[in-house]
Amino acid sequence: MEHSIALVTGATSGLGHAAARLLAAEGWHEIIVTGRALAGAQQAAAQLAAETKAKVIFTPLALDLDKPSSVQSALAELVKQGRPIDFLLLNAGMVPGKKRMLTAAGVEASQAPLIGHHQLTVGLLSANLLSPNARIVIAGAEPARGDVPMFSLTDVTALAAKRHQGNRTAAIEALLHNGPNVKYQANRAYADAKLIIAWWVAALARRLPSGMAVYAVSPGAATDTKVVRNAGWALKLLFIPIAKLIPGMDQTPETAARRYIQASGFGTDVSGQFFASAPKKFSGPIESMRHPHLHDRTNQEAAWQAVVKVSGVDFVPVKPASPSVPPITKGPGG
Ligand SMILES: NC(=O)c1ccc[n+]([C@@H]2O[C@H](COP(=O)([O-])OP(=O)(O)OC[C@H]3O[C@@H](n4cnc5c(N)ncnc54)[C@H](OP(=O)(O)O)[C@@H]3O)[C@@H](O)[C@H]2O)c1
Repeated sequence: MEHSIALVTGATSGLGHAAARLLAAEGWHEIIVTGRALAGAQQAAAQLAAETKAKVIFTPLALDLDKPSSVQSALAELVKQGRPIDFLLLNAGMVPGKKRMLTAAGVEASQAPLIGHHQLTVGLLSANLLSPNARIVIAGAEPARGDVPMFSLTDVTALAAKRHQGNRTAAIEALLHNGPNVKYQANRAYADAKLIIAWWVAALARRLPSGMAVYAVSPGAATDTKVVRNAGWALKLLFIPIAKLIPGMDQTPETAARRYIQASGFGTDVSGQFFASAPKKFSGPIESMRHPHLHDRTNQEAAWQAVVKVSGVDFVPVKPASPSVPPITKGPGG
């Protein structure tokens, strides 16, 4: 891929910031860095420019994934710039806290980044603002494998059978909203959010134009970021300190972010796959995950439909004559 324009969400700290720095070192010409507010994105852009001293343009962009109106404004700005993006790095995300948080649109806080990322991605595709060979990487996480202590997954098929007359789209919608009939448990919400991301990626891959590709990539454990700032004491005072003591269980943010960059060079043949540390590991080389629950096509399509319903946007792969921003038809609180 020609190293031209990349967009990194959540670049104000942690892995997004590290990824933007790595992309600059790799010779990308322009890196669009997002923060919830323009001031944060501007600060990140200035800091990156000072850190890298490279001849790269860091363009700040306001993008609050909790707010459809913010996604819409970001899309309008990108349409105005009118330059297709070659690498879309959907990195923003968070581990939720003990108290359940919902966005104004009623989406559980750790699920909200996927809704905003979906609106952004579909908006860019519909406006013809992804280059023909674009790569899309979205942050996954090892808990989606279902083998991480303290992070159990919801059995969507069982939830659908018990509460939604077998309708898996409705069950996944309930997870996105954390209700009705979903008991809030922070680590489970996070694990479910990353599982839905893995399913969404598989469904998006089936809809992308042939030259493009999308992957879910877990950066792996990198505890020197702000990702668990809202998390409960068990994770902060037990899980992470123990993980840090075990050799090979923690990585620097740069090492973790390098996984995203590695995936940007993957081919269309592995589009739709979820790459993470080897089963039961949290660092080291990434590989494509083979766990059967990740490859359940019915759940992949149900996840896509649930995200479409909650976000208010679907992807209709028809190229418009000229760049334009498709409206987000639903999404109160934006
Ligand atoms: N660090 C790890 O061990 C690890 C492991 C596996 C996966 N991950 C994933 O890696 C990604 C990056 O995490 P990190 O460790 O770099 O955490 P971080 O230091 O907290 O950075 C997260 C970034 O995402 C932004 N963000 C979060 N929610 C957002 C929203 N709704 N709208 C807009 N921006 C939002 C944050 O902005 P604000 O500061 O304004 O909230 C921040 O810029 C996440 O998706 C995380 O789940 C991390």
